[in-house]
Amino acid sequence: MLPASFYRPHCRIVALGLLCGWLCACSGSGVGLDGNGQPLSSSSSGGPVPLAATFDAIQANVFTPICSVCHIGATAPEGLMLDAAHSYNLLVGVPSTEVPTILRVAPGDPTNSYIIQKLEGHAAVGGQMPLGETPLPATTIAFIAQWITDGAPAGGSATAMAMATGFRVASVAPENGDVLAVAPAQMVVGFTRELDATRADAAAVRLERIDGAGEQASSTTVAIEPSVPAANPRALLLTPRAPLAAGQYRIVLSGQPGNALGAIDGELVTGAPTDANGDRVISYFTVAATP
Ligand code: HEC
Repeated sequence: MLPASFYRPHCRIVALGLLCGWLCACSGSGVGLDGNGQPLSSSSSGGPVPLAATFDAIQANVFTPICSVCHIGATAPEGLMLDAAHSYNLLVGVPSTEVPTILRVAPGDPTNSYIIQKLEGHAAVGGQMPLGETPLPATTIAFIAQWITDGAPAGGSATAMAMATGFRVASVAPENGDVLAVAPAQMVVGFTRELDATRADAAAVRLERIDGAGEQASSTTVAIEPSVPAANPRALLLTPRAPLAAGQYRIVLSGQPGNALGAIDGELVTGAPTDANGDRVISYFTVAATP
């Protein structure tokens, strides 16, 4: 059994962000605009991080202040959360939901990275990002393209987290407690360390559908394709073989040492609550509507 608090839905104030846009988000967090009218963000040391072709600088200057106003939480468009906790693992090596044949970020190839197509306004589906707002300056898009050309490396904060916490789950999408209006095209579990891609199989991770409630609850394993994107070995991508029907689901990591995903032999993920078998439920989420 898991503690009752584990099932408590998260509360998110998405509507606030939609109402006031990124200007409001900036003033709310105490940052302003630079001489070019571009948002400034704060680093952990308190100073602004100048925009550069690095993940941390792009997160601080673009994804957090401008994009995560909409791209956050259970209602994030196309399941793409762009807050600092989720963005890297949901971008690098992950297929676009709108055009699944194109990766959101294809390291080394900005032209064929869906995010660049969305920012430049010539993607095959949907509008230019940020949606309904002034497009990003060409110079800003050029920094993002350069980061992709350079191989889209992770930021220093990811490395620092691995050093501080050991082998852990760093992020899950959908998050525990999320209620999704639309079935997710994929689920992504981010870890603090690189995974052994050869162990990303049905024995190591499974998606279960929960039927019934309380004593009557039973679970059925749902067919998924687990994979580790070559470009981002810290992420475990779970692609359903068929669209998920409405219902309740949980993502479970096997507690059996032989199924350990860690590249360091036998190392088990720590942190998430375990059940009697040592299995770890790392997210419990609901799909509200059948596609
Ligand atoms: C005002 C809300 C809003 C803002 C701000 C916004 N987006 Fe979006 N985004 C959407 C919506 C809605 C969609 C889906 C419809 C569409 O594509 O037009 C979307 C879709 C996307 C997609 C396609 C995802 C996929 O998997 O197919 C990408 C990539 C994207 N946005 C990136 C960004 C980036 C980067 C920023 C910041 C520069 C941003 N968005 C800012 C609302 C927003």
